[in-house]
Amino acid sequence: MILVTGGAGFIGSNYINHFCSVSDEEVINLDKLTYAGNPLNLEHLFDSKQYKFIQGDIADKDLVLNILSKYKPRAIINFAAESHVDRSIKGPRDFILTNILGTYELLEASKHHWQNLEDNLKNEFRFLHISTDEVYGSLKSSDPGFSETNQYKPNSPYSASKASSDHLVRAYNKTYGFPVITTNCSNNYGPFQFPEKLIPLVINNILQNKEIPVYGNGLQIRDWLYVIDHCKAINCVLEKGKIGEIYNIGGKNEKKNIEVILEICSWVDINYNHSNQFFTEKLITYVKDRPGHDSRYAIDNSKIAKELNWNPKETFESGIEKTIKWYVDNQDWVLAVMNGEYKEWIKNQYSNKK
Ligand code: NAD
Ligand code: TYD
Repeated sequence: MILVTGGAGFIGSNYINHFCSVSDEEVINLDKLTYAGNPLNLEHLFDSKQYKFIQGDIADKDLVLNILSKYKPRAIINFAAESHVDRSIKGPRDFILTNILGTYELLEASKHHWQNLEDNLKNEFRFLHISTDEVYGSLKSSDPGFSETNQYKPNSPYSASKASSDHLVRAYNKTYGFPVITTNCSNNYGPFQFPEKLIPLVINNILQNKEIPVYGNGLQIRDWLYVIDHCKAINCVLEKGKIGEIYNIGGKNEKKNIEVILEICSWVDINYNHSNQFFTEKLITYVKDRPGHDSRYAIDNSKIAKELNWNPKETFESGIEKTIKWYVDNQDWVLAVMNGEYKEWIKNQYSNKK
């Protein structure tokens, strides 16, 4: 059995879906269900004996201790976080509480549990911490991609809170011998991403005929990783990664924001607006830049490629096509997560189950 935290969010729910499609092992999903968590992402697993959902906070040490002693997972994969840079600029507090304090409480509970395990279970146990390339700060256009030895230089409250959590995770390994592994990945995209992030926001605004806001000059670069490639990398790290190590995970897909937006516009025009090419580009609207906007992120994948034999399989063209089609086919999901309808559902679903 494995324990996933934050498994009702974008990457966590894709990970649980993927994990359950390649393994029979049981999965527990501990998620607080913030605005970004939607248990319906895993609706098809509700009747499966393989999957159990528990609503709760990673900062609730007693709850985590109870879960660990009852289910005895062989691994914890920590996705739970506040994850949106713009929200962290408006209000950093939740980022400090979950990403720093929450990770600390989760580490404390997990370490306590691990220290009391029998030797064979103790040796097998892993704490896999999912982090971001944003901890390394911003690259110049001529710089090589981030490698695992790059200095941490976070620029936003979000990346600073993730950097702090990475340092805590590292310290628990160095100080207590706790068996951690950290992954730092680039920007993910794919199904089930909350439509506040660039790619789902652009797709949905096009579908709803709304303006597409481009921050600043639109020339900032991100290294786009298809979420299923990321899930496969996490499985590789879980099974073959070395304790105490860091693995950077990137999509080998560096693109300027404006290029990403134009590719989505063009795909939609060609496939849905046959007679009206370049129609959607008219929605592009340049807006005020994000404060402290990082100009470029890129990942050097060579460590995970060489040591764990993982490489991204999806091209941006194939990944973006799947992603656009998913949002077109799942507009009900978008409306539900945006208007809070799913929160009502959660109340009815879980209020009497504690
Ligand atoms: P997300 O915002 O979509 O989901 C986060 C999930 O965590 C939600 O289900 C939320 O309810 C849950 N959560 C929040 N606070 C919690 C708490 N205190 N206790 C329990 N659950 C809590 O995020 P995501 O995009 O899926 O990102 C997952 C992880 O990957 C994060 O740690 C993030 O920093 C990291 N990451 C994301 C990206 C990306 O492009 N999305 C890139 C690099 C790293
Ligand atoms: P985002 O998806 O928020 O991820 P991150 O900030 O973690 O990289 O943003 C990706 C890039 O797109 C980033 O450079 C900011 C830019 N952006 C826009 O230009 N317009 C938008 O509406 C959003 C949400 C982001």
